[in-house]
Amino acid sequence: MSSGLEDLGRIRQSIKQHLREVEEGIEERRDPFALKQRVEEIRLSFLGKKGELTEKLRLIGQVEPALRPTLGSEINNIKEWLNSELERIGLRLRTLEKEAQFSRESLDLTLPGRSHPAGARHPVTQIFEEVENVFLQLGFDVAEGPEVETDHYNFEALNIPKHHPARDLQDTFYLGRELLLRTHTSPVQIHVMKKHRPPLRIIAPGAVYRHDYDVSHSPMFHQVEGLMVDCDVSMAELKGVLDHFAKQIFGYSVKLRFRPHYFPFTEPSAEVDVSCILCNGRGCKVCSKTGWLEIAGCGMVHPAVFESVGYDPDQYTGFAFGFGIERIAMILFGIDDIRLLFGGDLRFLKQFRH
Ligand code: PHE
Repeated sequence: MSSGLEDLGRIRQSIKQHLREVEEGIEERRDPFALKQRVEEIRLSFLGKKGELTEKLRLIGQVEPALRPTLGSEINNIKEWLNSELERIGLRLRTLEKEAQFSRESLDLTLPGRSHPAGARHPVTQIFEEVENVFLQLGFDVAEGPEVETDHYNFEALNIPKHHPARDLQDTFYLGRELLLRTHTSPVQIHVMKKHRPPLRIIAPGAVYRHDYDVSHSPMFHQVEGLMVDCDVSMAELKGVLDHFAKQIFGYSVKLRFRPHYFPFTEPSAEVDVSCILCNGRGCKVCSKTGWLEIAGCGMVHPAVFESVGYDPDQYTGFAFGFGIERIAMILFGIDDIRLLFGGDLRFLKQFRH
């Protein structure tokens, strides 16, 4: 019987041969799964229960006692060496596997990504919020009223007589003899005064409807109504509030102008202009060379309006104002056709995202 040492030399050579094959496989980038199986086979055939090295160790008792220590330690050396080789190759295989996986799942980073377009507030909503904030800071509350109104609230109680041109079928959308779509937010004044006693200080933002359609008129648009009633409210206070409002919205350099006007529900009445924010009052296309932009109607609440809600006109005074939100949005954003605001065209709306 041989000493076994020659056998070990042969086993070492055989192991080297197997491992070299696997390493060649890795270099050639062969299927990492097959190579892994191959590595496992090698491990089993030398280190497994019936593996050659295991067998050798088991049969060591049959060797001459004097040779056993050398033989034993040599077998263990080979086992250790093989284990570390297998571990090293295992690591290379894992790298190869990752590479294969990455190239399978590779991403084309030059492809345009999927966009997730975010919505934004409509320019009209943005101006509503700005306007509301200005008045909330002055202590005004926000009130609301219905968009479908009665003739009484929209006209009668506001001192608009039966044959007033504002009631013309041309302007008002009637829903029957009594019902109509409100043509302004002023009926909210009536709702608020019927429900509350002075002192009161409200704004009423909302949609209104008029039979009108061109670059500066839309059949549905938005107004903000203002109303302040107390024992001694003066026109000076009206001017102060609107002056503050206009400066907050258009900037501190704007000037205001109150032009005498007529509204059935206020007396005296005025229309309010701001100096054109585009030409600073010098005159341009937007202000039709006048230097002024009309932004609101206003006045002192008419005694007949107080009477219609049961307030004593000798006890109370008040002011009211109303203006269009789209008009302000158009001035601020430089929009020259009101209908763009309601067309829903994203190419238009995206310009006002903020
Ligand atoms: N309601 C008027 C309009 O729509 C505006 C206005 C409101 C005027 C309040 C005076 C007082 O034109």
